Amino acid sequence: MAQTYIELNRTGDKMPLVGYGCWKVDNKDCEETIYTAIKNGYRLIDGAAAYENEVEVGRGIKKAIQEGIVKREDLFVVTKLWNTYHQKDHVRPAFDRSLKEMDLEYIDLYLIHFPVPIEYVDPAVKYPGGWLQDGQTSIAYERSPIHVCWAEMEKLVDDKVARNIGVSNFNVMALLDLFTYCRYKPATLQVELHPYLQQKRLVEWVQKQGVAVTAYSSFGPASYVTLNEEGKTAKPLLSHELVQDIATKYEKSTAQVLLRWSIQRNVAVIPKSMNEGRMKSNLDIFSWSLEQKDVDALNKLEMGARFNDTVSYGFDLPLFD
Ligand SMILES: NC(=O)c1ccc[n+]([C@@H]2O[C@H](COP(=O)([O-])OP(=O)(O)OC[C@H]3O[C@@H](n4cnc5c(N)ncnc54)[C@H](OP(=O)(O)O)[C@@H]3O)[C@@H](O)[C@H]2O)c1
Repeated sequence: MAQTYIELNRTGDKMPLVGYGCWKVDNKDCEETIYTAIKNGYRLIDGAAAYENEVEVGRGIKKAIQEGIVKREDLFVVTKLWNTYHQKDHVRPAFDRSLKEMDLEYIDLYLIHFPVPIEYVDPAVKYPGGWLQDGQTSIAYERSPIHVCWAEMEKLVDDKVARNIGVSNFNVMALLDLFTYCRYKPATLQVELHPYLQQKRLVEWVQKQGVAVTAYSSFGPASYVTLNEEGKTAKPLLSHELVQDIATKYEKSTAQVLLRWSIQRNVAVIPKSMNEGRMKSNLDIFSWSLEQKDVDALNKLEMGARFNDTVSYGFDLPLFD
């Protein structure tokens, strides 16, 4: 049996290589979807305050536990700190709000969602604060350094409410800086990764630092079709003829090929699907592997295409430049 998890630095916790992503899981179906995901074998649930469905995610988890499918300790729950809560006094309340929404006592992995401190928005006014607040036409940044935010993240570990902490959408420069002052190294980095955007140097360097890497948007443009021009116009990876040929060869789906391509780099994946059959097949990627020549062919699809790009949403923020 192939290894199905990555052992995290500091705690040695076993992070499943395949998890379930909660972005765009609509509130109406979310409780049942999360329950179904757990019932079908998912043990990692990747959420975020920004996905605005933590209450329902928590209910799905609770239902699975109450029905005896899993115990809390069998699950690896991930959630993320939104940009408007980076300040010293805002991290803990934001974390507590996520805990409360999900009705949990601890989080397995808490991530800084983006290295982008945005002006605080009182949750009583709007929760969670978005990129732009009502009436704003550009992002209102906050003078809140990441080292202050990270120190607050570390306190969550000290207080035993977050077992692991990590970051998302950070690049090498941001990580290098963080390494100079952190008491606890990030356990993971979560970034956009698929054959169109492989970030090979980033992934290899980060893994060498003992930081696990998780890929988001493994299917490339699939979830950006309605969000930006890039998502609309890029050739879908899920029906790309090369991916299709490889899928036919292994008698697998194109989605399975894309996910397998990632875990063969020891990069965890968190596919989202509302469909039980697709959910199941996305998890079924351990009993077979891609030959190197097929990995090499997929690697040739690299084109530096980033879909979760703040500029593509109309913000004057070339975050990844
Ligand atoms: N840290 C960040 O900034 C960040 C950013 C983006 C995403 N994420 C995380 O990463 C997770 C996954 O990324 P993502 O939401 O961009 O989406 P994704 O998993 O790359 O793609 C989801 C899309 O693919 C479809 N799909 C799923 N399985 C399929 C299959 N086997 N065959 C055909 N189509 C399939 C889904 O439709 P159906 O539902 O109809 O199956 C949905 O339209 C998110 O849910 C979130 O947890 C994090």
